[in-house]
Amino acid sequence: MARFASSTRDVPTASAVPRHVAIIMDGNGRWAKKRLLPRVAGHHRGVETVRILVRACLERGIEYLTLFAFSSENWRRPPEEVSLLMQLFVRALKEEVKKLDRNGVRLRVIGELERFDPDLQALIKASESRTAGNSRLTLTIAANYGGRWDILQAINRMLSSNPEKGTEWQEADLTPHLAMSYAPEPDLFIRTGGEQRISNFLLWQLAYSELYFTEVLWPEFDSTAFDAALVSYQKRERRFGRTSEQLSGVSAASPTGSRIDA
Ligand code: IPE
Ligand code: IPE
Ligand code: MG
Repeated sequence: MARFASSTRDVPTASAVPRHVAIIMDGNGRWAKKRLLPRVAGHHRGVETVRILVRACLERGIEYLTLFAFSSENWRRPPEEVSLLMQLFVRALKEEVKKLDRNGVRLRVIGELERFDPDLQALIKASESRTAGNSRLTLTIAANYGGRWDILQAINRMLSSNPEKGTEWQEADLTPHLAMSYAPEPDLFIRTGGEQRISNFLLWQLAYSELYFTEVLWPEFDSTAFDAALVSYQKRERRFGRTSEQLSGVSAASPTGSRIDA
């Protein structure tokens, strides 16, 4: 399995097109409310946006797309809405996996999946195995995911991997145990729906991501809106702690993929 170190230890190579885009898909409820529709109608339309975005990532050569579908805090919603969201998730998995597979998409689901119905857990496993050999795009769905849960479970696994080690743990010991150790950290984070917060999404992995917030509601987020986020990303100067002057001195002969000395 490919291991990616933390961007606080290594300076990743930055390219014009982000390798990894992570999105908080927000605003489904408000989209429905504006149209006097039930909230679930917004979630239905939101699935259509997921299809559009997967296609857009394939066309633009983006390698990793990570979508926050259900947070560990979303269980606090009314039970009917939680149940409808689960049904929608099951239906989307059943309907889409064939097409994802055909298009070279590898599907991964991260989060505390034990809390889900056993049938849904089995469906997730089957969908992941079916697409495991694909490499064009890795689509990660975060479901019952929380950034704090991820860090804690990684700490627990790290400690039990070497109980004798004592206290000399490094970042590099922890990162292989994070739920998304198979992916580089997100280059670009997008949140739709106007809120400017992380809502317990990828807390560790967003340390050096470029953040982009838009008022556009998720059901209305289309490839044009996505391109606006990509253009904004292209204008950012990713310094990873260095100065602007250092960056302008970086040439092809001295790429950015350098190691920070401890
Ligand atoms: C995001 O849309 C979808 C999920 C959290 C599952 P919301 O349902 O949060 O929509 P708003 O924020 O109420 O508009
Ligand atoms: C965050 O959206 C989680 C998902 C998009 C799945 P919420 O709409 O639940 O976030 P908060 O609670 O308003 O911050
Ligand atoms: Mg919301």
